[in-house]
Amino acid sequence: MIPPKQVQEILDATRIEDVVEDFVTLKRRGVNLIGLCPFHGERTPSFNVNPARNIFKCFGCGKAGDAITFLKEHENLTYPEALRWLARKYNIEIQEIERSPEQMAEAQLADSLYIVNDFGLQHFQKQLFDTDEGKSVALAYFRKRGLREEIIRAFGLGYAPDERDLLLRQAKSQGYSLDLLKKVGLCSQDGSRDFFRARVMFTIHNMSGKVAAFAGRTMSSEKTIPKYINSPETEIYVKNKILYGAFQAKKAIRQLDECLLVEGYMDVISLYQAGIENVVASSGTSLTEGQLQLIRRNTSNLKILYDGDPAGIKAALRGLDLALEQDLNVKICLLPDGHDPDSYVQEFGGEAFTKYTTENAKDFIFFKTDLLLEETKGDPIKRAGLVKDIVGSIAKIPDTIKRSVYLRECSTLLEVPEQALYSEANKLITNTLKKKEEKAARQPSAASDVPPAAPPMWGGDEFFPPDIGAYFPPSEAGEGFPEFESQQKPAERKSGEEYQERDIVRLLILYGMQILPEENITVGEYVLSDIEESLGDFDNALYGKIAKECHALLVEGKVFDQHYFIQHESGEVANLAIDLLAEPWEFSPNWEAMWNYPLQNQPMPERNFTLDMRQSLDRFKLRKVQKMCALNLARVQTASKSGDHEAMMRFMKIQQKLNETRNEIALRTGTVVLAK
Ligand code: UTP
Ligand code: MN
Repeated sequence: MIPPKQVQEILDATRIEDVVEDFVTLKRRGVNLIGLCPFHGERTPSFNVNPARNIFKCFGCGKAGDAITFLKEHENLTYPEALRWLARKYNIEIQEIERSPEQMAEAQLADSLYIVNDFGLQHFQKQLFDTDEGKSVALAYFRKRGLREEIIRAFGLGYAPDERDLLLRQAKSQGYSLDLLKKVGLCSQDGSRDFFRARVMFTIHNMSGKVAAFAGRTMSSEKTIPKYINSPETEIYVKNKILYGAFQAKKAIRQLDECLLVEGYMDVISLYQAGIENVVASSGTSLTEGQLQLIRRNTSNLKILYDGDPAGIKAALRGLDLALEQDLNVKICLLPDGHDPDSYVQEFGGEAFTKYTTENAKDFIFFKTDLLLEETKGDPIKRAGLVKDIVGSIAKIPDTIKRSVYLRECSTLLEVPEQALYSEANKLITNTLKKKEEKAARQPSAASDVPPAAPPMWGGDEFFPPDIGAYFPPSEAGEGFPEFESQQKPAERKSGEEYQERDIVRLLILYGMQILPEENITVGEYVLSDIEESLGDFDNALYGKIAKECHALLVEGKVFDQHYFIQHESGEVANLAIDLLAEPWEFSPNWEAMWNYPLQNQPMPERNFTLDMRQSLDRFKLRKVQKMCALNLARVQTASKSGDHEAMMRFMKIQQKLNETRNEIALRTGTVVLAK
């Protein structure tokens, strides 16, 4: 293990631009460096590197992070591997320390499923390459199917001989736990037999190349034997989030900015061998949302290759609206009768395959339109259903321009006036929006974009005896504090107090460890001690979680910094950190395009983080006090209604105190805001 002190030393030495420049040519543009994004194909650069913040962000595909993130994603490294890579680059010699037994146990537990699967892979490969039976039966089978040795190794193919418990015995003799073997499904649940027997083996990798699961194919053509059997789902094998071949295909998908989707394991492997590397398989099931997201992260162009019969294809098309919702451009290509991608490429070769699929791929919407038109020939009622079906798909496309292009084209194909298609689409879109709004209304804390109306206390109230009015001077009536509202960009408006809460989290992530000159403590310490009492009542769960976590770290005497959040084990936290760190940039691409004037003289907020911090804290507290005011006022009203004068007086005293505090903060923030 690398000692924490050295980790810090490595991180301190690391400069994002050094690291990125090992892979990407960068040019200076204002305070940033800019280049062609290595994570998606592009011709005009939208990949930004910010040396001051030590992070990168691509405005094209959204990839962002620090040097460690870059190495993890670009070079497929794990966290410790990335650190070692950086240490080598900056000539820092690592003095590894031994792990404690507890650390060992913990790490082993976390990795144990992968470790057992690794054993499985080695076992199956040994059986394939190093035994006579493996060579004469399984290796011969793969060769007969046209696979070369290097591809057999690259995809982790193997062999499970027809023996009752060969794997089990070897695993046990090497000390692997029976429980784990059962869990990953390498043996039967009673622990007496191997699960995979008399099958050639396929390894299913996750996105980073670790062994997530196996599939075994029988070599027999006996119909009663299932063709493939698969490992069960586990923590490391969630079927609807894994695409077969994605690990091997990732790089090519980004470079070519297109992903080919086939059905079978053999299709992926044969195509890859023929030089068509941007290919993944759904493994015989329909595409899930999780799989589509996986694709979407690497490209927005998806080409699906089908070899089935028309009925099967029609069923498959139904699931594809999901892909449109993800804003993927979907093309469909049917293979000639009797061929699947594997048989086609084995017979005609990679070039012929690419030529065929390029010439025969059809846009999904038009493909579906043609297919259904054929079916509904001469049947006006069915034809009407078809129009609805097609428009239903088009309405799923988020991009308005794309949508209108499709509507125009389909109006010609379907011989229906464009306007009719438009109004049908609009109806569907409005309905979907309504449903979404209703759903959001049912979950009050899930960000609705509209800030809540000012608390009812600002207006007059008929229940009030006239003298209570004195506690609410007229200046407080109306909209609250417009200067705060106007500071929120519309897109950033968060519901309720979330905007203020986000601001607190921003302070913690951006400047948590900076020392406040006047106070001689860190921003983190100052902020958290200031709002300690409110840590439990954040409206937004994520923001609250981060604030509490920072607080706990401080209590334990630990530090947190930008790096801590970017590499956070929770993806949600890491993404938020990146968003916050990248926020001031969001203006610049548009700004520069519009005015051709880089925002070099926009002052960085870190220059003035003391002021920034006090403002954020005040806004946060003001919101909390306002909430308490509203709550207490309700108490005053209830007491007044029930004629409990004693209680009413007590609550009114509290109200007075609250109002004073509120006015004090309001005055202070007002001053600060005006002085800006
Ligand atoms: P195919 O029957 O097309 O298999 O099923 P294939 O991969 O082309 O295999 P070959 O060419 O006959 O050797 C497509 C995919 O459906 C899943 C597998 O993922 C397979 O690759 N499948 C199929 C199963 O999971 N179980 C089965 O019994 C059959
Ligand atoms: Mn096949």
